[in-house]
Amino acid sequence: MQVVQRISELREQVRCWREQRLAVSFVPTMGNLHAGHVALVKAAREQGDRVVVSLFVNPTQFGAGEDYEAYPRSLEVDCARLEALAVDTVFAPSALEIYPAGTAGHTRVDVPALSGILCGAFRPGHFSGVATVVAKLLNIVQPDVAVFGRKDYQQLLVIWAMVADLALPVQVIGVPTVREPDGLACSSRNGNLTPSQRALAPELHRTLTALAQALRAGESNFALLEARGREALEQAGMRPDYVGIRRSADLLEPRGGDTELIVFAAAWLGNTRLIDNVEL
Ligand code: PAJ
Repeated sequence: MQVVQRISELREQVRCWREQRLAVSFVPTMGNLHAGHVALVKAAREQGDRVVVSLFVNPTQFGAGEDYEAYPRSLEVDCARLEALAVDTVFAPSALEIYPAGTAGHTRVDVPALSGILCGAFRPGHFSGVATVVAKLLNIVQPDVAVFGRKDYQQLLVIWAMVADLALPVQVIGVPTVREPDGLACSSRNGNLTPSQRALAPELHRTLTALAQALRAGESNFALLEARGREALEQAGMRPDYVGIRRSADLLEPRGGDTELIVFAAAWLGNTRLIDNVEL
């Protein structure tokens, strides 16, 4: 397995593969890998002859006061894990490699229809930072397939919309959420939870599952269900940012008769913000 820091080196590697007509799959991550990332790498392996994984904690998707500095970084452990998964190349650029002139004046990609709602309402600029870095990474790697997780469903929709709107020549695949045995979605931030917070955390998934069941049973007062969800999270000791029932295609509020729905939530446990969703 090759670990490269420079855009030029990565491009050279991919150019060699292209000459041999090998299909390239790509998994962008911010590192501190867990079972969710592993599922993405396995899906990437099934889709292509060569697999590239990026490890880059992207500053432009963190707001002021968010955990950019504190975000866990574990390059060596991550590389050992990726080597065991037979990844071909790890791209681990510095912030200077990606943003040589800093971030403030850098070109930004924005997907306005999807970026101001749900998580976007609480993290202004976050999805523009994600779209910007993913567009740049896709241009660097130029993969045939790029793999993302459905745990960050709003992010996945933003990427799908960006790829369609900008006619980027890549197929984007969404992999189902990987969970701990108690239902908690795997996340790099779970490691920040204290033991007592960790014990409470599965309540997020339990609450979303209960709301999904109520929807399946025919309940259709969405506002009431969302309020019930927020109350359940508060009673479990969390501070919800939101609980939202939305259409999976466009994240708009459902009208009667819509069946393709997703229940979303973001909630704080101490200083850790957890997100999850359940698709109907
Ligand atoms: P990161 O949080 O490291 O996640 C990388 C990828 O792993 C994303 O596509 C995310 O949806 C997926 N993922 C995370 N937890 C998962 C789980 N429990 N099950 C399945 N997939 C999971 O998301 C980012 O990084 C960044 O925003 C990035 C796209 C790399 C841009 O900087």
